[in-house]
Amino acid sequence: MAMTAKTFEYFCQLVLTRSAIVLEAGKEYLVESRLLPLAKLHGFSTLDEFAAAMSGTMFNTMHRQTVEAMTTNETSFFRDIHPFEALKKAIIPEILARKSATKQLNIWCAAASSGQEPYTVAMLLRENFPELRSWKITFIATDLSSAILAKARSGRYTQLEVNRGLPAPLLVKYFTKDGTEWQIKDEIRNMVEFRELNLIEKWPAMPVFDIVMIRNVLIYFDVATKKNILRNVRQVMSPQGYLMLGSAETTMALDDAFERVQIDKGIAYRQTRATGAVRSYAAA
Ligand SMILES: C[S@@+](CC[C@H](N)C(=O)[O-])C[C@H]1O[C@@H](n2cnc3c(N)ncnc32)[C@H](O)[C@@H]1O
Repeated sequence: MAMTAKTFEYFCQLVLTRSAIVLEAGKEYLVESRLLPLAKLHGFSTLDEFAAAMSGTMFNTMHRQTVEAMTTNETSFFRDIHPFEALKKAIIPEILARKSATKQLNIWCAAASSGQEPYTVAMLLRENFPELRSWKITFIATDLSSAILAKARSGRYTQLEVNRGLPAPLLVKYFTKDGTEWQIKDEIRNMVEFRELNLIEKWPAMPVFDIVMIRNVLIYFDVATKKNILRNVRQVMSPQGYLMLGSAETTMALDDAFERVQIDKGIAYRQTRATGAVRSYAAA
């Protein structure tokens, strides 16, 4: 069932102001397929009626669910593999050496979706860096969507989800089968603290992070929003920290206080004043 141009514009504005996600003309089909089931759940038979009801009221559950329904939560374990190879091969070893006195590692995985990304990093740490057991690790994973965070916190995945990117030995070691699903074990689940955080709103006080992952979310934002977020990232990142973005994302032409570090096929970004062994990795 089609919606009017006014209704489409209402949804575009709502999603833009609340999440910064830009919905371009031509995305009407996406809006319809994602929002019509939600409209029906709230007792409306068309999107025009749904939008009319929302536009006259204060921001409430319907608005929130609408924004969340328009987010794309696509993710997988070890997505794009190279960033995780870079963490294992160069980034974590460099941090281990540099911070051996304080033994404190702070990681933030923003826009973490249903948790596969932070749990991938948690498994990678457990598997490859046993010395970290004596470190204090603060690992925060955030997302805008409370619904997707509930799934992330549960640590439950379907067969299809674990088939995507998770090596069989890690599945066997860190998950238990529960009916048709797989439950991640508490030793990994408890490493990650999930919190709600909208990247375009004021960020709460956070630790100084050694590693910040904001992958596959900047692509949805306009240039001004990307610049703001990158500037804010610098405020919560150690001067020697590492930023990791999605494979289609970059700091180039957005924030020249970051520079790109190539680690084999993996890419990380460091602040231009950063020091540490990984800088020379590419040159070695
Ligand atoms: C495509 S997923 C990326 C998941 C994971 N980082 C990865 O690369 O596999 C994008 C995530 O960004 C979240 N998101 C979208 N807009 C956001 C915002 N303004 N603040 C925080 N998270 C947002 C969505 O809810 C979604 O879970």
